[in-house]
Amino acid sequence: MVQANIGVVGLAVMGSNLARNFASREGNTVAVYNRTWAKTQTLVTDHPEAGFIASKTIEEFAASLAKPRTAIIMVKAGTPTDAVIDELVAVFEPGDIIVDGGNALFTDTIRREKAVRETGINFVGAGISGGEEGALKGPSIMPGGSDESWVTLGPILKSIAAVVDGEPCVTHVGHDGAGHFVKMIHNGIEYADMQLIAEAYDLIRRGTGKPPAEIADIFTEWNKGELESYLIEITAEVLKQVDAKTGTPLVDVILDEAGSKGTGVWTVQTALDLGVPVSGIAEAVFARALSSKPEQRAAAASLPGPDENAWKLADGSETSTDAFIEGVRLALYASKVIAYSQGFDAIVAGAEQYGWDIKKGDIARIWRGGCIIRARFLNRITDAYAENPGLVALVTAPFFVDVMERTQTAWRTVVADAAHAGIPTPAFSSSLAYYDGLRADRLPTSLVQGQRDFFGAHTYKRVDREGTFHTLWSGDRSEIEATDSH
Ligand code: 6PG
Repeated sequence: MVQANIGVVGLAVMGSNLARNFASREGNTVAVYNRTWAKTQTLVTDHPEAGFIASKTIEEFAASLAKPRTAIIMVKAGTPTDAVIDELVAVFEPGDIIVDGGNALFTDTIRREKAVRETGINFVGAGISGGEEGALKGPSIMPGGSDESWVTLGPILKSIAAVVDGEPCVTHVGHDGAGHFVKMIHNGIEYADMQLIAEAYDLIRRGTGKPPAEIADIFTEWNKGELESYLIEITAEVLKQVDAKTGTPLVDVILDEAGSKGTGVWTVQTALDLGVPVSGIAEAVFARALSSKPEQRAAAASLPGPDENAWKLADGSETSTDAFIEGVRLALYASKVIAYSQGFDAIVAGAEQYGWDIKKGDIARIWRGGCIIRARFLNRITDAYAENPGLVALVTAPFFVDVMERTQTAWRTVVADAAHAGIPTPAFSSSLAYYDGLRADRLPTSLVQGQRDFFGAHTYKRVDREGTFHTLWSGDRSEIEATDSH
């Protein structure tokens, strides 16, 4: 009997497409299983070319897999994942491999890996990016799990991943939850990138009065240069789309309340725990939250705003349209660099906290193709980490220093103009504030330390002497060396 080298459990769109992708690659035979048989039947009937081995029961599914059995779960993250893991553990044997390809929370993956490992079965949390089309044609894959499982899984995943410059967009990210952690950060950066693009669109629309179709052309043009990326490309497509029912641009009939499935929130929650400022990502998450408060927005709609000549107020003159658009492009590029820099900081901090050996250059490499944040400048990130693996902040790499040199004046003008005009640019502005905070010689946090010491005797350190100090604020205001009681 022919046995499959890979199985897929969960045959909704992502699972089906991934199964078809596996089947389309030389050397793979694919077993498929779904909770309801009807869905399996549809897939098998619609795609006879795939030669799927279909099973009605989980026992048959296990029997259809060659050892070590390797199955990838593509179900909704959360309890459905736990249920399928339990089913598979019951029919798999030590040495077999269970892969969760959903957007699981990395701490769940750590927990699951630990529990499954006790049975001798390998559990791998693998982040998969690229949406439905990526799953079918070549996603970017971020697997965690054991070295042992990577030996079997590596070639299978390499066979379906996107390929850039001859290299498949997959690497063994690190142990247990490392893959899902990196996928989570990927999504956080995705949120920031999308928000930044949306802000750029809003600035151009409100600043120049151009209609969406013309702004689409601007994005298409930008996509030929250093901003080239999947998200810029699809932005042009969305802006070009005309609503068939009303004949107006689709973007004008889509309700402006953005939803989310959780990965952006997780990124920010995790970054808060790790003490890493991911302000661009956080602003993107908050921007979606603000957009989804219709009652508050309606109540606030009549609040005072700037006067009509706001665009002229920033520097006393009206900027030419072309110069303004170019300024927005530069501000977008600068802010985008900050979003990635912050994302990589979170990866570094996560790796340290959870003991993962994550190669930052490899992460940038596997994000060059297949995934939602694929972009031309990811090559530059790979180069930056190759040149200096110990780089403390991506934005300080020579290439990005040059970018900042080139963009920062325009960036400041755009943020100032936006503030004058009353156009919200939370991600542009917070990225600039972060940049200025990072490069500041002195920060006013010395005052914060003074305040903390005043009301709570929280103590402070001095720039000129070793030790910890406290000022006797309610006494004679002399300074004492702090003791344990302070
Ligand atoms: C990807 C996407 C994918 C999904 C997000 C969207 O990498 O392919 O990130 O995982 O589209 O879950 O997230 P929101 O619904 O939260 O925007």
